[in-house]
Amino acid sequence: IGSKCKTEEEFLSYKEVINRAAGIAWRFPLIEMQGVPLRNYIVQKWSNISAFCPDPSDMLIATYPKAGTTWTQEIVDLLLHNGDEEACKRASTSDRFPFLEIQYPPPIPSGLDLLKNMKPPRVIKTHLPIQLVPKGFWENKCKVIYVARNAKDNLVSYYHFDRMNQAQPQPGPWEEYIQKFMRGKVAWGSWYDHVKDYWKEREKRNILYLFFEDLKKDPRREVERIMRYMDLSVTDDVIDKIVQLTSFKNMRDNPMANYTFIPKIMFDHSISPFMRRGEVGDWTNHFTPAQSQMFDEDYARQMADVDIPFCTSI
Ligand SMILES: *[C@@H]1O[C@H](CO)[C@@H](O)[C@H](O)[C@H]1NC(C)=O
Repeated sequence: IGSKCKTEEEFLSYKEVINRAAGIAWRFPLIEMQGVPLRNYIVQKWSNISAFCPDPSDMLIATYPKAGTTWTQEIVDLLLHNGDEEACKRASTSDRFPFLEIQYPPPIPSGLDLLKNMKPPRVIKTHLPIQLVPKGFWENKCKVIYVARNAKDNLVSYYHFDRMNQAQPQPGPWEEYIQKFMRGKVAWGSWYDHVKDYWKEREKRNILYLFFEDLKKDPRREVERIMRYMDLSVTDDVIDKIVQLTSFKNMRDNPMANYTFIPKIMFDHSISPFMRRGEVGDWTNHFTPAQSQMFDEDYARQMADVDIPFCTSI
């Protein structure tokens, strides 16, 4: 939602629409869907969401929330537009990349509404765990990019996001949030299952599995990997330009990507900006040594069945 409205006036009237929708209670509760807590509005429309059938030319960007979704979306869009920064400012992130499962109280348009109005090839966003991704994506062999971020930084980012995003449940105190995250009692469920289940399927289903930390460490190499996966070819200069345009600072200052296009009634950047730090290792500023140890012990148990090369510092 957001930038369909170009002028300030249109934007305000759109805001009005949202304000009216705000008569309903924000902080939507979670309901478990096949064991995965999802927002109530998503669960209500589940049969429509899971019946969505993409075109084979559609691409999916799948992430656990706050793992580098917006960043990857911008890289993909710039690759599709040969680094043309103006072309990528044609609309907001939410309007350029339909968010498959997102549902709000009417009249706020859903992800499916947006998809209905866009012709393939589309780049679709999802936070769904792999078992809930509509079958059509696999049947039609759509390209799927998955981005994973180390658990501790992902948790910190999600905590701050839940503070500012009025559509998400209240995060509650930090100490309790750690427990909720560890038990998967947050929106879109368990981080552990999410990253593991895509990992286990990545070869069989031709999923490009990326890490936030690699994007940070060597953005050029990762942009090139994405380019090759998409069967595109752009010049070295364009790659350099894309790396530049998708630096944290440029993303933060890009009004079509920094989520200030979402009205404050939903995203309150004064509580915590959507583009907050974008760093690797910020968890050290949040976890006490005792919390870190407790988390690590639980992590070892939950991740014992896989060996995913996460790094928590660079
Ligand atoms: C978003 O981008 C605009 C335009 O550059 C900038 O003025 C604003 O500070 C940014 N907002 C946040 C919250 O990052």
